[in-house]
Amino acid sequence: MTGSLEQEFVWIPKATAIAQEAGARLREFFSHGVETEYKGDVDLVTVADRTVEKLIRGRLGEAFPEHGIYGEEGTRERLDGEYRWYVDPLDGTTNFAHGFPHFCVSLGLEQRAPGLKTGQDGTLVAAVIYDPLLDELFAAERGRGAWLNGKRMRVSRTLELAESLVATGFPSSKRHDNPNVHFYHEFTLRSHGVRRAGSAALDLAYVAAGRLEAFWEFNLNPWDTAAGILLVEEAGGRVTDFSGGGFKLDSREILASNGLIQEELLVLFSDMFAGRGLTPIATPREFAQRRADRAAAR
Ligand code: IPD
Ligand code: CA
Ligand code: CA
Repeated sequence: MTGSLEQEFVWIPKATAIAQEAGARLREFFSHGVETEYKGDVDLVTVADRTVEKLIRGRLGEAFPEHGIYGEEGTRERLDGEYRWYVDPLDGTTNFAHGFPHFCVSLGLEQRAPGLKTGQDGTLVAAVIYDPLLDELFAAERGRGAWLNGKRMRVSRTLELAESLVATGFPSSKRHDNPNVHFYHEFTLRSHGVRRAGSAALDLAYVAAGRLEAFWEFNLNPWDTAAGILLVEEAGGRVTDFSGGGFKLDSREILASNGLIQEELLVLFSDMFAGRGLTPIATPREFAQRRADRAAAR
């Protein structure tokens, strides 16, 4: 960030140092390889997730002793305070565990007015997402823009889904409940393509950076989304639930875009939920029959 702007940032400088230190630890673990454990069904966790959350917890505690912390690996501290960090020490654990080089550290700061109830959201005020392998630092503070390695980021100017590259993800628990494969199929047919790269936080950062036009997912948690939402908004994009309502940290549905294609996406979501305009997917059996018919006709 430029010298004069850096003076104005309140939280980004310290949060950046913490995310970079955490990222350096992830890089070390990644280069040596780590054992994988199961938290659930296919919900993976490694020593890296736990060690790095502990590191971040300690560093945030030193830098911002009054602030609360809500981390994926169980940290719950000072949750009655005015500020609360949502921490994902390693977003993209499945990638990490398989040696697939796409993951990040995500830190999002919420300011909570006194008296807010547990389920009510405050205001997201700061965000840092760090990709340690590409050394890319995405950062934002409310009202002060979104930045990638010190350069201002803006969402793309693409006007139509048909000319968009979009992304989604699939949850690692309750996988049978999820209808997202239908959305994946429909969006694949209606866009330049759908990426499922395995880090929701980076997906959101990429929307903010104009590398993707949109991202949606079912069943994410606040530590996956808090930082990315602010990045998208500060880069000029829009984030809603699947009906166009304001996004809530615990709403379990997120639709983020460059803003310009948001209405088109919301119409498509509404049509899909109503069963309208779906392109039929050939079943494997139907495909096998056609294949056999073609072979027989040769
Ligand atoms: C996961 C990633 C992934 C998304 C999953 C998340 P984790 O987070 O963000 O892209 O599809 O729903 O759980 O477990 O790697 O921190
Ligand atoms: Ca995550
Ligand atoms: Ca994680």
